[in-house]
Amino acid sequence: MIRYNGRKLIYLCMGVMGLIFLLVNHVTNDSREVDKAWQIEIDPITRMNISNVQAGGLDQRELYKKFFVFSSKCKMPKVNPFVEGFPELKPLKFKACTDEPSLVSVIYDLAKKHYMLHLNMEKSLKNFANYSAFGCTYFEIVPGAADIEAYLLLFFLCSVKAPEYFHQDWVVPSHFLGVIVECHEMANKSRVLQRDAFAFVQHPKNRNEANDALRGAQYPSVFLFGIDSMSRMNFRRSMPLTSKFVRQKGWFEMEGFNKVGDNTLPNLMAILTGRTPRQWQSLCDVRKPGCLDSLHFLWHHFHNVGYLTAYAEDLSSISTFNYLKMGFKRPPVDFYLRPFLMVIGQFLQTVEYFGFKYCVGRRHSFSYVFDYAKQLIERFVFEQPKPLFGLFWTSSFTHDDCRGGANLDGLFLSYMEQFKDYGLFEKSVVILLSDHGSRNGALAEHYTGFLEERQPMLHIYLPPWYRKLYPSVVEALNLNRNRLSSNYDLYLGLRNFIEQTHPRMDYFRNIKCDQCLSILKVLPFNRFCQRLQLFDLEFVEQKLINEENIYGQVKTYSLYSRTQ
Ligand SMILES: *[C@@H]1O[C@H](CO)[C@@H](O)[C@H](O)[C@H]1NC(C)=O
Ligand SMILES: *[C@@H]1O[C@H](CO)[C@@H](O)[C@H](O)[C@H]1NC(C)=O
Ligand SMILES: *[C@@H]1O[C@H](CO)[C@@H](O)[C@H](O)[C@H]1NC(C)=O
Repeated sequence: MIRYNGRKLIYLCMGVMGLIFLLVNHVTNDSREVDKAWQIEIDPITRMNISNVQAGGLDQRELYKKFFVFSSKCKMPKVNPFVEGFPELKPLKFKACTDEPSLVSVIYDLAKKHYMLHLNMEKSLKNFANYSAFGCTYFEIVPGAADIEAYLLLFFLCSVKAPEYFHQDWVVPSHFLGVIVECHEMANKSRVLQRDAFAFVQHPKNRNEANDALRGAQYPSVFLFGIDSMSRMNFRRSMPLTSKFVRQKGWFEMEGFNKVGDNTLPNLMAILTGRTPRQWQSLCDVRKPGCLDSLHFLWHHFHNVGYLTAYAEDLSSISTFNYLKMGFKRPPVDFYLRPFLMVIGQFLQTVEYFGFKYCVGRRHSFSYVFDYAKQLIERFVFEQPKPLFGLFWTSSFTHDDCRGGANLDGLFLSYMEQFKDYGLFEKSVVILLSDHGSRNGALAEHYTGFLEERQPMLHIYLPPWYRKLYPSVVEALNLNRNRLSSNYDLYLGLRNFIEQTHPRMDYFRNIKCDQCLSILKVLPFNRFCQRLQLFDLEFVEQKLINEENIYGQVKTYSLYSRTQ
């Protein structure tokens, strides 16, 4: 049934040239989410309807039912996302990306540490009975070149390489980042049975396995899962299943967590580099190639102490470091999914919802990112523990539509359950976070929009062994739940995970930030909202009446310049 012959060179190359054209156009013009200057004027100010006197009569538990944060210097009213007047957040009706069974699947041979492409013949006999003898080809996707250059590499590759046929349980070479496979009739090659794509987590070469095993047992792996534009309130409402999952033992919700920048880039940069836009902009211009490569990200710090590092984000065309920026010249981490996503986004059929690629080929674009995380967890948490720091970010459901979370909820929970089966929550620190809330649309226009926009969700999970070893961290997180915290505190908290295992480590460059403190340590009770300039002090002074009336006068002030 499977034979070796046939080339599809010209078709592929024309596609690639098309892409290059598209990409160039895309990069030069798209004004959807331009990074504005870092000073943004905000008008509506929030007022509270509970006076200090009234609040004094409430006990802590009652108080924190009404407030996320309540101190004399900072008060953040709690919004009940289940009261009337909130926009409906029911899941929209979508078809699954495909209901066909997979013709090709991937098998990992743990002993030999390689992947194989497996043809599911039984399925093919049933579902593709109409087709005569077929063959399957693969087209390789290799890492190396990052970001924009991946296109050029692909172009180069395709001018020298054509898809090749493969046989049952063909062994994937160890330098492949992924493959695109296509099965077609041998008698008529344009009758395609199925196209699909797979990314691989190849066993890292040149590592000291004994050291890795030792570190794997001692250092906590740190997994960050991000959902774009997801506020604390919207998360509770639109993702009830996942919300329930993160209320289990070991999870801490940071209710006083506030964003520090307008859109994704400044907020993620604060978490990953600890720097303000002014600080990283003073180092170089992110619109110039090579700039991002020269900055110190958390993954570099983790790498330096022996961690493997990973980063994957769906929607590769608008991803955080590439949208109107130059992206990375070199892959920033050991496991970098972007080149794979860029290629499949162009070669496979896509379906758009919420204004973005929702299905790419046979799967949600989101699934490629979380399947990649799953493979990493399988390989490095479950099978052969090695410490890993990874960031997995999804925007495709939620970036432009506050209802998207409802569609994502079940899928997301199912990944969490699978991760659980691989022992993720026995061993690793897991952080579920977002960059900001809805910045426009129904939720932002609601009278609680001021809070919606500024309060991204942040949930921190500590595994049992870690909680036992560091009771002070547990205590701190319990207190910090209702204290004002920011991205900079989270950055320092993530660094703490390194410092705990390397107490003498002193290579971090000191980033000036008087007001920042690790979120793993007890944060000051009386932080000024204003000092962090997350909320204006006057906001605090307002005498507020009740939850239903969190509203107020118009005032402008700048949010994002941190006191230095
Ligand atoms: C990009 O688009 C905006 C608005 O759509 C337009 O004003 C601007 O001139 C365009 N820029 C380029 C370089 O085409
Ligand atoms: C075979 O092809 C016919 C006509 O194209 C179609 O209606 C039928 O569903 C196909 N059967 C299978 C098993 O794919
Ligand atoms: C090959 O398949 C395509 C797509 O199904 C069809 O349009 C075409 O007529 C077929 N060619 C031959 C020679 O049967």
